[in-house]
Amino acid sequence: MRNSTRGEVDPFIVMDVMEAARAAEEAGRHVIHMEVGQPGTPAPAAARDALARAMADQPLGYTVALGLPALRARIAQLYGEWYGVDLDPARVVVTPGSSGGFILAFTTLFDAGDRVGIGAPGYPSYRQILRALDLEPVMIDTAPENRLQPVPSDLAGLDLQGLMVASPANPSGTMLDRPALAALMETAQAQGAGFISDEIYHGIEYEQKAVSALEISDEVYVINSFSKYFSMTGWRVGWMVVPEDHVRRVERLAQNLFICPSHASQVAALAAMDAGDELEQNMAVYRRNRQLMLDGLPKAGFDRIAPPDGAFYVYADVSHLTDDSRAFAAEILDKAGVAVTPGLDFDTARGAGTLRFSYARSTEDIEEGLARLARFMAETGRM
Ligand SMILES: Cc1ncc(COP(=O)(O)O)c(C=O)c1O
Repeated sequence: MRNSTRGEVDPFIVMDVMEAARAAEEAGRHVIHMEVGQPGTPAPAAARDALARAMADQPLGYTVALGLPALRARIAQLYGEWYGVDLDPARVVVTPGSSGGFILAFTTLFDAGDRVGIGAPGYPSYRQILRALDLEPVMIDTAPENRLQPVPSDLAGLDLQGLMVASPANPSGTMLDRPALAALMETAQAQGAGFISDEIYHGIEYEQKAVSALEISDEVYVINSFSKYFSMTGWRVGWMVVPEDHVRRVERLAQNLFICPSHASQVAALAAMDAGDELEQNMAVYRRNRQLMLDGLPKAGFDRIAPPDGAFYVYADVSHLTDDSRAFAAEILDKAGVAVTPGLDFDTARGAGTLRFSYARSTEDIEEGLARLARFMAETGRM
């Protein structure tokens, strides 16, 4: 049968690495997972309990398209708690993960052929979703001296209809501080470009609180998710905050594209928002793991790294060790039994010389993974 050209998106390489790791495990190998961008912990106990109760006494049919009113109100409350922002719940849209939020945001804001700027390295699905929607991703090569985040001068002459940023970012973990974020938002607005802020790693911060674009302006789409801080990746529930006069447009699209986000997941997500103690225990693990990585990776020969401000990744420059990060990652999986992600997922050009290490799993796994990496690097004569 015929195919569309816009359906020709690249594979998500980390998914291929996960599959290779799974196959190695099936063949009896023990693998340490530093490839996956997800917590090893389940949804908070309160979330699972709330769902068990709801399953016993509710049909859990469709919800309204914008999401359960109680969940939208609780998300609005979070903006008061985290940022001191007074947010009208009517502007909150519950989505099928932040991934569903991207589809809604891109279809609401852009027409076929519109150009949307995204930083490289960056989360790979941005450009693939844009392509699948007949939009043009415009890659902005970010500089190490700008901590791998775009800066206003990068936007000159790009003729963008949209700009998307992530802070903390995947894979670098770097954040945009308030002046840097405000400057990008102003520059985008001056060019008539819509601004989208991916804030999925908010809550997972180490030195200082991440700044929300909503602290700076209401003329922005903010996208977030229950996947990371709330430890609910597989539940597929996230949210978006949009300008007041966009709500109805988004609602019409959401009704038709998704009907609603999973009702069961919305019930669990609402309870997860009050599971502060358990979520902070997860944070204590990430904090400890981050320190282990910052100490252990250089000792294992991966010394071209920068401390991440947030998220749970270390992005390493390995260009002195390889010009083929995909083959290098395959060799590390094969010989060391550690799954890591080649940078090519995040940066199609420079990513041939980078690797992303995730430290979202247990501290024991991180210690074992670092020991294996050090052994591998010594045994293969790389340090
Ligand atoms: C920066 C970034 N945005 C979005 C996503 C997608 O997350 P979700 O599970 O909310 O769809 C990820 C997943 O790793 C990510 O790293």
